[in-house]
Formats: sequence, C-alpha cells, structure tokens
Amino acid sequence: MYTPAQLALRYIRYYCTASNGKGHGVHSPFVFELITRVLNDDRDFYMYQPIEALREELLTWTSEITIEDFGAGSRVKKSPVRKIAAIAASSLKPKKFGQLLFRLVNHLSPQTILELGTSLGITTSYLAAANSNARVITMEGSAAVADIAGANFRQLGLGNIELVTGNFDQTLAPTLAKLDRIDFAFLDGNHRYEPTIRYFNQVMGKAHANTLIILDDIHWSREMEQAWEEVKRDPRVSLTIDLFYIGLVFLRREHKEKEDFIVRF
Ligand SMILES: C[S@@+](CC[C@H](N)C(=O)[O-])C[C@H]1O[C@@H](n2cnc3c(N)ncnc32)[C@H](O)[C@@H]1O
Repeated sequence: MYTPAQLALRYIRYYCTASNGKGHGVHSPFVFELITRVLNDDRDFYMYQPIEALREELLTWTSEITIEDFGAGSRVKKSPVRKIAAIAASSLKPKKFGQLLFRLVNHLSPQTILELGTSLGITTSYLAAANSNARVITMEGSAAVADIAGANFRQLGLGNIELVTGNFDQTLAPTLAKLDRIDFAFLDGNHRYEPTIRYFNQVMGKAHANTLIILDDIHWSREMEQAWEEVKRDPRVSLTIDLFYIGLVFLRREHKEKEDFIVRF
C-alpha cells in the first residue's frame, strides 16, 4: 500500500485532473445525469440516520474479537485480536461513500446486489436499505466479524440481506453459481492485483449490459492501480468513472466509444 504521503500526492493529481463534479463539460447524458442527480444529491434519506447511529455505536465498542485477515491488510497494526471500535474506525467506507452507494442503488434499481467484504455491515446496510425489494448477498471471511454484521442487520430491521461466510476464494464461485445475474457489485475485500482481477472476472461472468461494478480503493497501492488500469482497458467495459476512493465500471452498450471519466467527489 502507498504511504500517506504517496496517497496524498495521488489525491492532488486526481483533484487537479478531475472534472469539477458539477457535470460541466461532460457530454455523455448518462454521466451528466449520474453526476447531477446521484453524486450531487444532498437530500437526507430517512435510513441514513439509523445506519450512522449504528456506526457511532460500533466506534465505542471496546470488546475484542479474534479475526482472520484474508485481505491485503489495513493501515493499522495487524493483529488477530482487534477491538470492534478499531475495525469500525479503519475498515468501513465512510458515510459519504456509503450514502453514495445507497443513492446509486436508488437510481439504478438493481435487483441482485453482491458485496465482497461485509466487515461490520455498514455499507451492506446502505445497499440493502436503498431498496428493500433487492436481494443483497454480502460475503465476509472472518466469522466473528460476520456475526456482528448479522446482528447489525437485525438491529436495523433489514431482512433482504444474505450473509455468506468464508474465504472468497472458496465461496465466490458457488455463490455466483446459484445466481442468474448480478446487477450491482461492490468489490471491497482483498485489495491486491491478482484476486481483484480474478473476482472481477468471476463477477463479469454473471454481469449484463446494465450491471454496475464498483471497485474499492483503486489508488490505494500500485497493485490496485494496476488492477484499475486493466479493468479500464477491458473491452467488455464501456465506461468508467474514477472517484479516487472508488471506481465505477459500466458495461452499457449505448456507450459505443469507450470513455473514462475522472470526477471530483
Ligand atoms: C474493507 S473491509 C469491508 C468494508 C465494508 N464493505 C464497509 O464498507 O462497510 C474488507 C473485508 O473483507 C474481508 N476479506 C478480505 N479478503 C477476504 C477474502 N479473501 N475472503 C473473505 N473475506 C475477505 C475482510 O475480513 C474485511 O472484513
């Protein structure tokens, strides 16, 4: 992973090259609508408050759990025993991105949503709360972490989430085999080049022209930047939007010319 200074340099480069986030100069109507109606939608949806209240609660939990670390790790010191508060502080997507994912689900109305990397289930809750008719399948390797996520879903009254526990390397293929199609996928676990590309290709096997795949932490490390570049070059991908901390990948046939946007968010 990049050092904080290297990441800051990359952020500055992103910020200077990105379009201004208001849609000026964006000629694709689809992207313009996405920027103006989804990225910049500052309405306060009713489920934001209980999900953020739960995050605040988790940030105060001093109890410890033993976790298996399957992924590329995190910036904080690795230990098999972690405080729940520390996981809540370091592993979860911040409110701004959880709420963006909520709005993307709201806007695109996907029926089958897949998340790789549940952690404590905060982002999963945003995905599920955005459309109670959607089926959300979320996958987590660490059993102790998944148990807390399951309790969180019950606390929030979210009944449309299926939690699959185990290493993605073993659980992703059988999970996908049971699904006809994936409309929306958020890949947020195991941030290394090879598994990211492998999981992306597995998900692509169930994707269709209207599927949105979101890759997390695309500038987090050299390996993740390499994976992002490869995804952008993939001939099945027609449109990408780089928001620095996440990358949106669309397969829309309407986009005859491949386009890669960088947008301030
Ligand atoms: C960054 S956290 C997910 C955060 C969550 N999406 C959110 O924003 O609330 C990544 C999670 O993926 C899990 N993970 C990483 N690699 C995995 C693998 N190979 N198999 C299963 N789980 C994995 C980790 O245990 C961790 O809980």
